Amino acid sequence: MCTIETIRAAVERVGSAALNEPAVVEHLHPLFSRVLKRDARTNEIYLANHSLGRPLDASSQDVQEAMDLWYADMDGAWGPWLDERDAYRARIARLIGRADPKAVVPKSSAAQGLRAVLNALPSECPRVVATGGEFDSIDFVLRAYAHRGKARVSYVPCGQNARFDADEIVKRIEPGTELVVVSRVIFSTGQLLGGIERVIVRAHQIGARVLVDAYHSAGVLPESMDDLGCDAMIGGNYKYTRGMAGACWLALADSMLGPAGVPEPDGPASVDTGWFAKAEPFAYRRSDLPEYAAGGDAWLEATPPILTYYQARAGLELTLALGVDRLRAYTLGQLAFLREALHDRGVPTRLIDGSPEAHGNYLLIPADDGPDATARLKQAGVNSDARPSPAGSPWFVRLCPDLLNTQDQLLEAAERVAGVLSASRAG
Ligand SMILES: Cc1ncc(COP(=O)(O)O)c(C=O)c1O
Repeated sequence: MCTIETIRAAVERVGSAALNEPAVVEHLHPLFSRVLKRDARTNEIYLANHSLGRPLDASSQDVQEAMDLWYADMDGAWGPWLDERDAYRARIARLIGRADPKAVVPKSSAAQGLRAVLNALPSECPRVVATGGEFDSIDFVLRAYAHRGKARVSYVPCGQNARFDADEIVKRIEPGTELVVVSRVIFSTGQLLGGIERVIVRAHQIGARVLVDAYHSAGVLPESMDDLGCDAMIGGNYKYTRGMAGACWLALADSMLGPAGVPEPDGPASVDTGWFAKAEPFAYRRSDLPEYAAGGDAWLEATPPILTYYQARAGLELTLALGVDRLRAYTLGQLAFLREALHDRGVPTRLIDGSPEAHGNYLLIPADDGPDATARLKQAGVNSDARPSPAGSPWFVRLCPDLLNTQDQLLEAAERVAGVLSASRAG
């Protein structure tokens, strides 16, 4: 059986009802034998799934498949390799609810997706509105562009409670704004940006485009990009979809796509480009003006990396076969369980926006010194990470269970965390 069939068969055995732990353990855990062996060997409880997701056994076999094609077929491998690229685009399109798979453009990072959009805007120095809570990579790109005079960026800060308010972003969007950059889920706090629809409506009223960073929402929230109505979305696979680093994407709405040929001067056109964006790459025909392929293919670049499509395949297949809605419900149950176990042991957690449904897939424990807290947790056998509050302080330790964490393990994790961080027990 090929890896995809193995995954689909396992998911079929789980059944179509809500996910439950006995079925997950019986049918899905065997897909992760290598990771589970590591768990047993190290006795570490891995709760950094929001940072680097855990791979299926199939992932290394999938990469091996790409290599084997090369050895066996030499240049004949290009056919299946490019089919796998298109399968990757289709999987991401399904994941994020984008009807047109060609509107998904593989990228090696989210930052690369942002740069492609910035560079595609018609004006030399676009006016950008962003939140102060964007991930460092995105924030740094914007600052680098501003420093070079290639963008003017206005940052919307969070409130004292570390919460970003969509209406503050709406107020900042004014005639002349060309691009709005917002995260669906804020990386440092897990806040799901409620009211993002109002941001998009306002931006469109004045002719601006909206790019949504979906790194912490794609594969987490059962949402559709087409319904959301943003113009561009960026994300990647190394967290929730278990696809390792380098397998990222930029998805574009129809508003960013054009017909084949030379683009209109006042419309968006990708200059992060290469011969795979040409109308007929294999015709080797040159023209004075760049003649692009139609639609999302015009945003492709040069000879593509191939392995990323294979490395991300198993994780995406599993996510799609299970369904993001079922995974989200399961994780919310795990988070509630872990939160209660922590509270029972005197460890406070923090919800930025009131309810667990208004959060991404991890919980927060405030800590004065995040790096110190996570180092001590690691020593106690809990793998986590921490990010500084966008309000300045404190830090937030982030804990994210996944399918491989059982309730027994979460109880044990709470015990270990309490030994390190609870107000009453910490030294
Ligand atoms: C919200 C968000 N955006 C983007 C990234 C990654 O950005 P890049 O792919 O540019 O390194 C992360 C990584 O943690 C993130 O949390």
